[in-house]
Amino acid sequence: MSLSKFYKKSIKERRLIIQSLKDIPLSEMNLLNHESYIPNDKLDLMIENVLGYYPLPFGIATHFNVNKKEYLIPMVIEEPSVVAAASKSAKIAKIHGGFSSGPIQPLMIGQIQICNIDSKEERNEIFEYIHKNKDNLICFLNKQDPVLIEHNGGVKDIQIREITNNDQLFIILHVIVDVRDAMGANIINTMVERLADKLRPEIPGRINLRIISNLAIHRVAKSRAIFDKDALGGKEIVKNILDAYFFALNDPFRAATHNKGIMNGIDAVAIATGNDFRALEAGAHAFASFSGQYLPLTRYFLHPEGHLIGEIELPLAMGTIGGMISKHPGAQLSLKIMDINSAEELCQVTAAVGLAQNLAALRALADEGIQKGHMKLHKRI
Ligand code: MEV
Repeated sequence: MSLSKFYKKSIKERRLIIQSLKDIPLSEMNLLNHESYIPNDKLDLMIENVLGYYPLPFGIATHFNVNKKEYLIPMVIEEPSVVAAASKSAKIAKIHGGFSSGPIQPLMIGQIQICNIDSKEERNEIFEYIHKNKDNLICFLNKQDPVLIEHNGGVKDIQIREITNNDQLFIILHVIVDVRDAMGANIINTMVERLADKLRPEIPGRINLRIISNLAIHRVAKSRAIFDKDALGGKEIVKNILDAYFFALNDPFRAATHNKGIMNGIDAVAIATGNDFRALEAGAHAFASFSGQYLPLTRYFLHPEGHLIGEIELPLAMGTIGGMISKHPGAQLSLKIMDINSAEELCQVTAAVGLAQNLAALRALADEGIQKGHMKLHKRI
């Protein structure tokens, strides 16, 4: 049996083809034939070569208070103990007022790579053209998206950078766009492609890539909480958590796992709300190594009264409209459960979830270890 024109077949036909190719019993193959709130015809348009559904649990983390508002947190994740751990930390944070998350500007970066710059004169010509025409170019781009402008978004700046590969110079343009409540990938990618078309006849060199940067350093979310020393388990646990943090601060091998724990929470919220968790992962890890050393995305300090102060800082490019978010009924339901009104609010809450998740992991590791709790929960299934 051939896979030719596989993409043109119906979902059921595709399942039958794979079943016979791999000699899998029909009963097993029918696992994928699960009815859901996304009908088959819509599912078939979401990605290519669809065979069916792959369910994951949808859970709710509780006790979150962020900027004085109570939240229920939808989390889609396969790993036991993540939801319980986040809820537990949120409960501890509540003793001293919950999480405070700062304002976040929804500024995203689109990059344009200019190659084949053959002389200093050509390089100067590009710099001069961009500097002289920056306002006009911004105006031109903003005219392309009147809806974004109506909502006070739009292009805010065009920045120019230089990088070299051996002796080869690349000029890199950064188009900074306020994407409002969107994650921004579609807006940004459209903007940079239009700008590239406009620039091509005007400047020397060859325009190559035109694409979003997932290192969203202008869209950084920050959250902070005080974790009560007694609720954490006492002075010794606080000291152990601080030592665990210092371990991550000075060892990239540990920092990677420390940050993985943070992303357990962030990715789960991202999936539940229809956001692109791969983009968040890429941004988070690039940000973690932005100083030249891979660092933890959270920090911990001792409070004067012996409690633990926790802070998180990472780029969070999450939206509440656009793409999958607006189309997926599950994502819409999650936003309703969270009672979220803007992308900024979603990022503020998600940053708090990341901090809660990390604190929970460190607390378990610094005390009884994670296997005991983990295994208890694993045994249930
Ligand atoms: C497991 O998914 C996450 C942890 O390894 C995180 C950490 O070690 O900090 C428990």
